[in-house]
Amino acid sequence: MQLLDGKLVSQAVRDDLRSKVAVRLQQGRKVPHLAAILIGNNGASETYVSSKVRSCEEIGFRSTLIRLPDDISEEALLFHIDECNQDFDIDGILVQLPLPKHISEQKVIEGIFVGKDVDGFHPESVGRMVQGLPAFLPATPYGILLLLEHYRIETKGKHAVIIGRSNIVGRPISILLNRNDYPGNCTVTVCHSHTPNLKDICLQADIIVAALGRPAFLTGDMVREGAVVIDVGITRVPDSSKKSGFSIRGDVDFETVAPRCSHITPVPGGVGPMTIAALLMNTWQACIAKD
Ligand code: GUN
Repeated sequence: MQLLDGKLVSQAVRDDLRSKVAVRLQQGRKVPHLAAILIGNNGASETYVSSKVRSCEEIGFRSTLIRLPDDISEEALLFHIDECNQDFDIDGILVQLPLPKHISEQKVIEGIFVGKDVDGFHPESVGRMVQGLPAFLPATPYGILLLLEHYRIETKGKHAVIIGRSNIVGRPISILLNRNDYPGNCTVTVCHSHTPNLKDICLQADIIVAALGRPAFLTGDMVREGAVVIDVGITRVPDSSKKSGFSIRGDVDFETVAPRCSHITPVPGGVGPMTIAALLMNTWQACIAKD
C-alpha cells in the first residue's frame, strides 16, 4: 500500500509556483493576486480561508482578505464582489462557502467574473469543464487529478466509484474522471444517499472517491483488494487530547481500508493540501491569462 502524500505534492506545486513568481517579479510584471471573501465567523471557514491567504503569501502571490459580517445583505456582498471584478490587479476571487441562509449562493457565484472564477463554481466554468474546454477546475477535484498524475496512477478503463454528488466535489470529479484525457477515461458510477447496494458497487471499484462528509463511512469490507482510495472527508470531531479541541476525520476508515488498497490518501495530509495547491494553480493561470 502506498500513501498518496498530498503534503509532499502540494509542496512541489508551491515550490514551482514560487520560482515562477520570482521570475515574473524580475521581469517587472504583476504577481498573481487572490481576493478571498469570508462572511461571518464559521470556525472551519476561518481556518480554510486563512490557510489559503497564508499559502498565497508564502509563494509571493498578493492576497486580499475581505471579512464581512454575518448579517451583510446580499446586495452589499454583490457590491464587494463587483469591486473585485473591476479591480484590474485582482486575478482571482473566492467567496468561502457556506454562506448565511439569507444570501443566495447561486447569485453570489454568478456575480463573479468567469475570468476570475478560480473556484470554478460559475455555471459557465462548469459548462466549459463538462464540454472539455479550457476552464478553471474546482480546487478539490483539480487537486485530486494533480495527485493521481503525480503518482502516475493508471485511470484509463478503470471503474471509478464516487460517493457523493456535491457541486464542489462529487459531481465535478465524476465528469473529470470520465473525460477523454489523463487522468480520466474511467467508467464512472456516482453514488449518493439514495443508492441501494452501495457496498456491492464499491466492491466493483478500481478507484473510490469518498466525498460524502461522514467520518469513517467507507470500511474495509466495501473495498476490493488493490483499489485506489481517495478520501475527501474533513469532518471535525471532538478530541480532548488536541489543543484545538477537535481532530479531523476522513470519510474512510483508514485502519480497515488501507491494508486492502494499492494507494490511499491520508487525512489529514492527502486531498486537503492539494485543494490549496490547485487554487494557487488557478490563480496563477488567471494572472498569466492577462499577459
Ligand atoms: N467551502 C468548502 N470548499 C470550498 C471551496 O473549495 N471553495 C469555496 N469558496 N468554499 C468552499
